[in-house]
Amino acid sequence: MTRSFVFTNHKGGVGKSTSATNIAFGIVNLLRRANVANPRVLIIDTDSQGHASLVTTGRKDYGADDSLYTVLMAERQNAPQVLMNCIVQSQWDENLHVLPASPMLEGAERELMGVAGAPYRLADPLSKIANQYGAIVIDTRPSFSLLTEMGLIAATDAIIPVEPRYLETVGLTSVIQKINDIREGWRHPNLRVSGLLVTKMDTRVRGHNHLLAELKGHAVLGKLLLGVIPSNEAVSYAHRNHQSLFTYDPRSSASKAYMQVVASLVRYLSKGGE
Ligand SMILES: Nc1ncnc2c1ncn2[C@@H]1O[C@H](COP(=O)(O)OP(=O)(O)O)[C@@H](O)[C@H]1O
Ligand SMILES: [Mg+2]
Repeated sequence: MTRSFVFTNHKGGVGKSTSATNIAFGIVNLLRRANVANPRVLIIDTDSQGHASLVTTGRKDYGADDSLYTVLMAERQNAPQVLMNCIVQSQWDENLHVLPASPMLEGAERELMGVAGAPYRLADPLSKIANQYGAIVIDTRPSFSLLTEMGLIAATDAIIPVEPRYLETVGLTSVIQKINDIREGWRHPNLRVSGLLVTKMDTRVRGHNHLLAELKGHAVLGKLLLGVIPSNEAVSYAHRNHQSLFTYDPRSSASKAYMQVVASLVRYLSKGGE
């Protein structure tokens, strides 16, 4: 089964899109280096703001005919084909593909409210084409909206990017609760929280060190720690150039930290998600 990683946190600006896009690209590179038969990775952008679409494809003006919106509005029988038709190649790598977001997704939540099976409108067609990819990465918007729910239902593994600040870590418990609700409430036993990713870590800030130490010492959360990404201005420069961090500056501290995360996710993939 193809693993699908959803990056989620109801807080904005915590590095969801940065992590989703760079980790997806990193997975392509490592799978290719390992000579696996299928090194392709698909990014699904469920945030109407389209940041992941913009940095990886150079556009965020996708619409009624060429985006996730199109898939959500499609007739059920046609949805897998529509999904295939809407996928584009990223500008970063021929093996990194993108199902782009659209500003129209903003209205889709209202349009789909009350439609039977609405929360499955991404997961259903995706399950039909997932085996064409070595992994799938889903970026979500900063809220527990219907679209985020769809992303979670379409995923096998939730990764929670979190800034090392007091409120974010308190908020963590509610994100984990939400993921558990989806697993139980929507009978989606395959979904699990597979990692916390501390982002924008500044070791010069005492509070950050304190929070990280607390997280590491926590009986449950400590075991979920997947990596620590330093605060690094290479990230914003890479964004501005619509480049991956690994291309923009492979030697930057954030690149190296993301590479470690990618390596552990690829190990996880090679063990079949065990
Ligand atoms: N490790 C980092 N160091 C410095 N800036 C970062 C880092 N990660 C993300 N950023 C910046 O923080 C902002 C929010 O990141 P983004 O990935 O868009 O968050 P989200 O998707 O959670 O809203 C962006 O401007 C991005 O450039
Ligand atoms: Mg984002």
